Amino acid sequence: MNEWQGRTAVITGGGRGFGKAFAEALCERGAHAVLVDLDGDAGQQAAVDLASRQMSAQALQGDVTDAARMEQVMALAAERHGGIDLLINNAGLHSDEYGQPMRVLGLEKIRRLFDVNVMGTVTCTLASVPHMAGRAGANIVNISSMAAYLGGTAYGASKLTVAALTIAFASELGKDGIRVNAIAPGMILTETIKAELPEATKAMVRGGQALQTDGAERDIVEAMLYLSGSGARFVTGETLRVTGGLGAGV
Ligand SMILES: NC(=O)c1ccc[n+]([C@@H]2O[C@H](COP(=O)([O-])OP(=O)(O)OC[C@H]3O[C@@H](n4cnc5c(N)ncnc54)[C@H](O)[C@@H]3O)[C@@H](O)[C@H]2O)c1
Repeated sequence: MNEWQGRTAVITGGGRGFGKAFAEALCERGAHAVLVDLDGDAGQQAAVDLASRQMSAQALQGDVTDAARMEQVMALAAERHGGIDLLINNAGLHSDEYGQPMRVLGLEKIRRLFDVNVMGTVTCTLASVPHMAGRAGANIVNISSMAAYLGGTAYGASKLTVAALTIAFASELGKDGIRVNAIAPGMILTETIKAELPEATKAMVRGGQALQTDGAERDIVEAMLYLSGSGARFVTGETLRVTGGLGAGV
Protein backbone atom coordinates (compact mmCIF):
# COMPACT_ATOMS: atom_id res chain seq x y z
CA MET A 1 0.00 0.00 0.00
CA ASN A 2 1.42 3.37 -1.05
CA GLU A 3 1.16 5.59 2.02
CA TRP A 4 0.97 8.83 0.00
CA GLN A 5 -1.96 7.72 -2.16
CA GLY A 6 -4.81 10.21 -1.71
CA ARG A 7 -2.98 12.26 0.94
CA THR A 8 -2.88 16.05 0.71
CA ALA A 9 0.32 18.08 0.86
CA VAL A 10 0.50 21.87 0.99
CA ILE A 11 3.88 23.08 -0.22
CA THR A 12 4.87 26.72 0.17
CA GLY A 13 7.25 28.10 -2.44
CA GLY A 14 5.93 25.32 -4.67
CA GLY A 15 6.46 27.14 -7.95
CA ARG A 16 10.07 26.19 -8.48
CA GLY A 17 13.19 24.62 -6.96
CA PHE A 18 12.72 22.29 -4.00
CA GLY A 19 9.03 23.12 -3.73
CA LYS A 20 8.23 21.91 -7.22
CA ALA A 21 10.47 18.85 -6.78
CA PHE A 22 8.66 17.97 -3.51
CA ALA A 23 5.30 18.32 -5.27
CA GLU A 24 6.39 16.13 -8.15
CA ALA A 25 7.68 13.35 -5.89
CA LEU A 26 4.51 13.37 -3.77
CA CYS A 27 2.19 13.50 -6.80
CA GLU A 28 4.08 10.61 -8.45
CA ARG A 29 3.14 8.63 -5.33
CA GLY A 30 -0.53 9.54 -5.67
CA ALA A 31 -0.77 12.55 -3.34
CA HIS A 32 -2.63 15.80 -4.04
CA ALA A 33 -0.25 18.76 -4.03
CA VAL A 34 -1.33 22.32 -3.31
CA LEU A 35 1.40 24.71 -4.43
CA VAL A 36 1.43 28.05 -2.64
CA ASP A 37 3.67 30.68 -4.13
CA LEU A 38 4.05 34.44 -4.04
CA ASP A 39 4.90 34.22 -7.72
CA GLY A 40 1.47 33.22 -9.03
CA ASP A 41 2.71 32.53 -12.54
CA ALA A 42 5.45 30.17 -11.35
CA GLY A 43 2.97 28.29 -9.14
CA GLN A 44 0.46 28.07 -11.98
CA GLN A 45 3.07 26.86 -14.45
CA ALA A 46 4.30 24.19 -12.05
CA ALA A 47 0.74 22.98 -11.38
CA VAL A 48 -0.09 22.90 -15.11
CA ASP A 49 3.11 20.97 -15.80
CA LEU A 50 2.27 18.36 -13.14
CA ALA A 51 -1.39 18.18 -14.15
CA SER A 52 -0.37 17.60 -17.79
CA ARG A 53 1.26 14.40 -16.52
CA GLN A 54 -1.95 13.22 -14.83
CA MET A 55 -0.85 14.39 -11.40
CA SER A 56 -3.17 16.06 -8.89
CA ALA A 57 -1.73 19.54 -8.43
CA GLN A 58 -3.31 22.91 -7.80
CA ALA A 59 -1.70 26.34 -7.45
CA LEU A 60 -2.82 29.03 -5.02
CA GLN A 61 -1.12 32.41 -5.10
CA GLY A 62 -0.20 33.89 -1.73
CA ASP A 63 2.44 35.35 0.54
CA VAL A 64 3.35 33.14 3.50
CA THR A 65 3.50 36.23 5.72
CA ASP A 66 -0.15 37.09 5.00
CA ALA A 67 -2.07 35.35 7.81
CA ALA A 68 -5.54 35.98 6.38
CA ARG A 69 -4.55 34.60 2.97
CA MET A 70 -2.78 31.58 4.48
CA GLU A 71 -5.90 30.74 6.54
CA GLN A 72 -7.90 30.95 3.32
CA VAL A 73 -5.36 28.84 1.39
CA MET A 74 -5.34 26.07 4.05
CA ALA A 75 -9.15 26.12 4.22
CA LEU A 76 -9.39 25.85 0.40
CA ALA A 77 -6.92 22.94 0.35
CA ALA A 78 -8.77 21.16 3.15
CA GLU A 79 -12.18 21.78 1.61
CA ARG A 80 -11.07 20.36 -1.70
CA HIS A 81 -9.33 17.27 -0.35
CA GLY A 82 -10.94 16.69 3.06
CA GLY A 83 -8.02 17.87 5.20
CA ILE A 84 -4.27 18.41 5.18
CA ASP A 85 -1.80 15.58 5.85
CA LEU A 86 1.50 17.31 5.17
CA LEU A 87 2.68 20.92 5.25
CA ILE A 88 6.10 21.74 3.83
CA ASN A 89 7.26 25.18 4.95
CA ASN A 90 9.66 25.65 2.09
CA ALA A 91 9.16 29.25 0.86
CA GLY A 92 12.19 31.27 1.79
CA LEU A 93 14.44 34.14 0.86
CA HIS A 94 17.91 32.80 0.44
CA SER A 95 19.68 34.43 -2.46
CA ASP A 96 23.28 35.40 -2.10
CA GLU A 97 22.00 38.85 -1.15
CA TYR A 98 20.81 37.74 2.28
CA GLY A 99 24.23 36.33 3.12
CA GLN A 100 25.67 39.85 3.08
CA PRO A 101 26.77 41.53 6.32
CA MET A 102 23.80 42.90 8.24
CA ARG A 103 25.21 46.43 8.10
CA VAL A 104 25.07 46.19 4.30
CA LEU A 105 21.68 44.48 4.17
CA GLY A 106 19.95 47.09 6.36
CA LEU A 107 16.98 46.85 8.67
CA GLU A 108 14.24 46.71 6.04
CA LYS A 109 15.67 43.69 4.22
CA ILE A 110 16.55 41.90 7.47
CA ARG A 111 12.98 42.42 8.67
CA ARG A 112 11.53 41.00 5.43
CA LEU A 113 13.95 38.04 5.64
CA PHE A 114 12.73 37.17 9.14
CA ASP A 115 9.12 37.82 8.13
CA VAL A 116 9.29 35.29 5.29
CA ASN A 117 11.66 32.64 6.69
CA VAL A 118 10.57 32.73 10.34
CA MET A 119 7.09 34.28 10.57
CA GLY A 120 6.05 32.59 7.31
CA THR A 121 6.77 29.23 8.96
CA VAL A 122 4.80 30.20 12.07
CA THR A 123 1.91 31.63 10.05
CA CYS A 124 1.48 28.60 7.78
CA THR A 125 1.86 26.15 10.67
CA LEU A 126 -0.83 27.87 12.73
CA ALA A 127 -3.13 28.12 9.70
CA SER A 128 -2.75 24.43 8.73
CA VAL A 129 -2.92 22.71 12.13
CA PRO A 130 -6.74 22.92 12.51
CA HIS A 131 -7.03 21.00 9.21
CA MET A 132 -4.53 18.31 10.30
CA ALA A 133 -6.23 17.43 13.57
CA GLY A 134 -7.20 13.79 13.85
CA ARG A 135 -5.48 12.74 10.61
CA ALA A 136 -3.18 9.78 11.25
CA GLY A 137 0.39 10.49 10.21
CA ALA A 138 -0.14 14.24 9.74
CA ASN A 139 3.14 16.09 9.90
CA ILE A 140 5.11 19.18 9.00
CA VAL A 141 8.51 19.48 7.33
CA ASN A 142 10.31 22.82 7.64
CA ILE A 143 13.20 23.83 5.42
CA SER A 144 16.10 25.21 7.43
CA SER A 145 19.64 25.44 6.05
CA MET A 146 23.20 24.41 6.79
CA ALA A 147 23.83 28.16 7.02
CA ALA A 148 22.07 27.95 10.41
CA TYR A 149 25.11 26.13 11.84
CA LEU A 150 27.81 28.09 10.07
CA GLY A 151 26.90 31.45 11.63
CA GLY A 152 27.75 34.88 10.44
CA THR A 153 24.68 35.89 8.46
CA ALA A 154 21.13 37.14 8.97
CA TYR A 155 20.07 34.32 6.64
CA GLY A 156 21.75 31.74 8.91
CA ALA A 157 20.13 33.30 11.99
CA SER A 158 16.70 33.09 10.35
CA LYS A 159 17.27 29.42 9.49
CA LEU A 160 18.57 28.59 12.99
CA THR A 161 15.28 30.02 14.22
CA VAL A 162 13.47 27.64 11.86
CA ALA A 163 15.32 24.75 13.58
CA ALA A 164 14.28 26.16 16.97
CA LEU A 165 10.66 26.52 15.82
CA THR A 166 10.79 22.88 14.70
CA ILE A 167 11.54 21.83 18.29
CA ALA A 168 8.95 24.23 19.74
CA PHE A 169 6.14 23.13 17.43
CA ALA A 170 7.10 19.44 17.78
CA SER A 171 6.67 19.78 21.56
CA GLU A 172 3.42 21.67 21.24
CA LEU A 173 1.78 19.55 18.53
CA GLY A 174 2.96 16.09 19.62
CA LYS A 175 -0.12 15.68 21.82
CA ASP A 176 -2.25 16.16 18.70
CA GLY A 177 -0.26 13.40 16.97
CA ILE A 178 1.42 15.87 14.60
CA ARG A 179 5.16 15.40 14.02
CA VAL A 180 7.34 18.38 13.05
CA ASN A 181 10.79 17.98 11.54
CA ALA A 182 13.16 19.99 9.38
CA ILE A 183 15.79 19.55 6.71
CA ALA A 184 18.95 21.63 6.66
CA PRO A 185 20.20 21.45 3.07
CA GLY A 186 23.76 22.29 2.23
CA MET A 187 24.55 23.73 -1.18
CA ILE A 188 22.03 22.25 -3.58
CA LEU A 189 22.27 23.29 -7.19
CA THR A 190 18.69 24.36 -7.92
CA GLU A 191 18.18 26.68 -10.92
CA THR A 192 18.19 29.70 -8.57
CA ILE A 193 21.42 28.70 -6.85
CA LYS A 194 23.09 27.83 -10.16
CA ALA A 195 22.23 31.30 -11.47
CA GLU A 196 22.85 33.36 -8.34
CA LEU A 197 25.80 31.84 -6.52
CA PRO A 198 29.19 32.93 -7.89
CA GLU A 199 31.43 30.09 -9.09
CA ALA A 200 34.06 31.00 -6.47
CA THR A 201 31.50 30.59 -3.67
CA LYS A 202 30.34 27.25 -5.08
CA ALA A 203 33.97 26.03 -5.19
CA MET A 204 34.57 27.25 -1.62
CA VAL A 205 31.48 25.44 -0.27
CA ARG A 206 32.37 22.28 -2.19
CA GLY A 207 35.86 22.43 -0.66
CA GLY A 208 34.30 22.39 2.83
CA GLN A 209 32.24 19.27 2.16
CA ALA A 210 33.42 15.80 3.15
CA LEU A 211 31.96 14.48 -0.12
CA GLN A 212 33.39 16.09 -3.23
CA THR A 213 30.17 15.90 -5.19
CA ASP A 214 27.35 18.40 -5.75
CA GLY A 215 24.05 18.15 -3.93
CA ALA A 216 20.93 17.81 -6.11
CA GLU A 217 17.23 18.40 -5.52
CA ARG A 218 16.60 14.66 -5.31
CA ASP A 219 18.80 14.47 -2.18
CA ILE A 220 16.43 16.86 -0.41
CA VAL A 221 13.38 15.10 -1.86
CA GLU A 222 14.59 11.77 -0.38
CA ALA A 223 15.02 13.42 3.05
CA MET A 224 11.50 14.87 2.81
CA LEU A 225 10.03 11.47 1.86
CA TYR A 226 11.73 9.88 4.87
CA LEU A 227 10.74 12.55 7.39
CA SER A 228 7.14 12.84 6.19
CA GLY A 229 6.62 9.09 5.84
CA SER A 230 5.66 6.41 8.33
CA GLY A 231 9.29 5.23 8.56
CA ALA A 232 9.85 8.33 10.70
CA ARG A 233 6.75 7.80 12.90
CA PHE A 234 8.86 8.13 16.09
CA VAL A 235 10.94 11.08 14.85
CA THR A 236 9.92 14.62 15.77
CA GLY A 237 11.69 17.87 16.56
CA GLU A 238 14.72 16.89 14.45
CA THR A 239 16.59 18.87 11.84
CA LEU A 240 18.26 16.53 9.36
CA ARG A 241 21.39 17.90 7.70
CA VAL A 242 21.75 16.95 4.04
CA THR A 243 25.01 18.63 3.20
CA GLY A 244 27.59 16.19 1.84
CA GLY A 245 29.32 16.58 5.21
CA LEU A 246 29.70 20.36 5.04
CA GLY A 247 30.77 21.57 8.48
CA ALA A 248 30.43 18.03 9.82
CA GLY A 249 31.00 17.82 13.56
CA VAL A 250 29.32 17.28 16.89
N1 LIG B 1 19.02 25.69 -2.87
C1 LIG B 1 19.82 25.56 -1.81
O1 LIG B 1 21.01 25.26 -1.92
C2 LIG B 1 19.25 25.74 -0.41
C3 LIG B 1 20.08 25.45 0.66
C4 LIG B 1 19.59 25.58 1.95
C5 LIG B 1 18.27 25.96 2.15
N2 LIG B 1 17.48 26.26 1.11
C6 LIG B 1 16.09 26.66 1.39
O2 LIG B 1 15.20 25.86 0.65
C7 LIG B 1 14.02 26.59 0.34
C8 LIG B 1 13.74 26.53 -1.15
O3 LIG B 1 14.92 26.87 -1.83
P1 LIG B 1 14.98 26.89 -3.42
O4 LIG B 1 16.41 26.88 -3.76
O5 LIG B 1 14.07 25.88 -4.00
O6 LIG B 1 14.38 28.38 -3.66
P2 LIG B 1 13.81 29.12 -4.98
O7 LIG B 1 14.18 30.55 -4.84
O8 LIG B 1 14.22 28.38 -6.20
O9 LIG B 1 12.23 28.98 -4.79
C9 LIG B 1 11.60 29.57 -3.70
C10 LIG B 1 10.14 29.81 -4.04
O10 LIG B 1 9.54 30.43 -2.90
C11 LIG B 1 8.70 31.48 -3.35
N3 LIG B 1 8.55 32.49 -2.32
C12 LIG B 1 9.48 33.38 -1.90
N4 LIG B 1 8.95 34.17 -0.95
C13 LIG B 1 7.68 33.77 -0.76
C14 LIG B 1 6.63 34.22 0.07
N5 LIG B 1 6.79 35.26 0.89
N6 LIG B 1 5.44 33.57 0.01
C15 LIG B 1 5.25 32.54 -0.83
N7 LIG B 1 6.21 32.08 -1.67
C16 LIG B 1 7.41 32.69 -1.63
C17 LIG B 1 9.39 32.04 -4.59
O11 LIG B 1 8.50 32.75 -5.42
C18 LIG B 1 9.95 30.76 -5.23
O12 LIG B 1 9.05 30.22 -6.16
C19 LIG B 1 14.25 28.02 0.87
O13 LIG B 1 13.63 28.13 2.15
C20 LIG B 1 15.76 28.09 1.00
O14 LIG B 1 16.15 29.02 1.97
C21 LIG B 1 17.93 26.16 -0.18
